[in-house]
Amino acid sequence: MALNELISTATGAGNHFLILASICPIIFLLHNWFKLRHIPGPFLAKFTNIPRLSWVWSRRAHDVHIALHKQHGDLVRMGPNMVSVGDPLEIDKIYKLREPLNKSDFYHVILPMSKGKVLPGLFATQDEGIHRMLKKPIASTYSMTNLVSFEPFVDETIEVFFGQLDRRFVEGGRACDFGTWLQYFAFDVVGELTFSSRLGFLEGGRDIDNIMLDIWNWFEYVAVVGMMPWLDYLWVKNPIISRLRPAGYSPMVSFALKRQQERLEPLYIEKEVNNKDFLSRFIAAMEKDPSIPQWALLAWTSSNILAGSDTTAIFLRTIFKNLLQNPQTLERLRAELREASQTTGLSMPVTWKESQSLPYLDACVKEAGRIHPPFGLHLERVVPLGGMNVCGEYLREGTSVGMNAWVVHRNRAVFGEDADEWRPERWLGPEEQRKKMEASLLTFGGGHRTCLGKHISLLEIYKLVPSLLQEYDLEPLSLDKTWRIENRWFVPQFGLNVKLKKAN
Ligand code: HEM
Ligand SMILES: *[C@@H]1O[C@H](CO)[C@@H](O)[C@H](O)[C@H]1NC(C)=O
Repeated sequence: MALNELISTATGAGNHFLILASICPIIFLLHNWFKLRHIPGPFLAKFTNIPRLSWVWSRRAHDVHIALHKQHGDLVRMGPNMVSVGDPLEIDKIYKLREPLNKSDFYHVILPMSKGKVLPGLFATQDEGIHRMLKKPIASTYSMTNLVSFEPFVDETIEVFFGQLDRRFVEGGRACDFGTWLQYFAFDVVGELTFSSRLGFLEGGRDIDNIMLDIWNWFEYVAVVGMMPWLDYLWVKNPIISRLRPAGYSPMVSFALKRQQERLEPLYIEKEVNNKDFLSRFIAAMEKDPSIPQWALLAWTSSNILAGSDTTAIFLRTIFKNLLQNPQTLERLRAELREASQTTGLSMPVTWKESQSLPYLDACVKEAGRIHPPFGLHLERVVPLGGMNVCGEYLREGTSVGMNAWVVHRNRAVFGEDADEWRPERWLGPEEQRKKMEASLLTFGGGHRTCLGKHISLLEIYKLVPSLLQEYDLEPLSLDKTWRIENRWFVPQFGLNVKLKKAN
């Protein structure tokens, strides 16, 4: 009797368990769907982030995001809890300066682990307290007024760059894998600015210690896994598993640590007293405020390299690719440079000040940032307590909301019917139109967490492009075919092959 009862309750519980086990996922899926049922989007994306992850995995996420917005309008549901916003008019609401929205868990994936602990960084931290602590002491270093003091570092790298181009490609007449060389330049210039020490890519003509590859692989991981951040908690950020992994530093961090240690030696002699690099300014900031923790120094130097090298490289490639593909725009830019050198004169390398009175160059730079923004995924934020209205629809608190610059920059209402095309001339129209377009750019993000290195990268770009065109004639070899655009997080291009001749 007792046994019978026991068996029957056991099977009963088993049945209940079976029923529960089959209902739970259904409730879970329905709950997922219900939260944002009023926002249109692909069917599967209402239930799971798998489609979103697969778009990034396929390296075509930017195309998929653009196509989905064409199909569904300004709001697209791209995951159970994620809404993509396409209307540039909502930029100021999502990327506010005051009471900003929190960064989503996508950013948590970016942070590295060290000895079982997450190492915070300026770019990725979700914690406003840490962000303030990291940003406040050094923000003025990146300001526009401070810019010219960094100019000698860029000049030096440009000279090394041109020396290598002369020796390797002009004299030998060999084809130059120009996209890769622009990347060497962008990495070395950041090393020079940060440590007064190039990473050595230009002189070596190769990726030293696989630093570039290493950073690239990490971006690829972040982009894909960032679509489902819990995967990262399970593996990389897992406090137990991460302790078992050998505690090694990436080649880039080792380089940064070495430079830091050299600098802190008592016998170190500064190269130029007037032109301090980032490292010496960071050290000065730490000395001024002893409450700043020691790890901040590494967080600052490595964020320069991580946030500032591939991005600038992609930007430079975009400019040259489009100039070469559209010879009439290249000719117009050359004409502007000819005229400037005949009237006011142009230095070699072109100075920042000179570069600021070249309106067509300015138009080309803006157009490049518009048509091919280096950051190719959403800048994700979290809807705050109480929810918010976006494009006339209510989004409840906790929803992940973000804009992809690739989508926003192709908005027809702002940029015109030819928004898919390279046309720098669009930036030379009436002031009012230009202002409207400028306010719709997300190339460097916006609001409270906008790019800190924007002026630095523009310094590099506005100097290198005219200097290079003054010095060289570029003849594209493999036009179109080998230029593919790929996207994980940053959007690389490959195969920009050119023949270089000295300009006369
Ligand atoms: C063309 C080059 C660059 C592009 C397109 C770019 C793009 C961006 C974007 C889109 C953000 C905002 C990300 C977000 O909202 O989540 C950002 C943030 C940031 N960038 Fe850049 N960046 C560039 C160059 C640089 C350089 C050269 C540096 C440093 C020397 C730098 C340092 C930073 C830092 C520190 C942040 C975080 C700021 C904060 O959260 O307060 N960037 N960048
Ligand atoms: C941002 O996140 C913190 C916790 O990290 C939370 O206390 C705060 O309320 C959040 N702010 C908003 C506006 O959601």
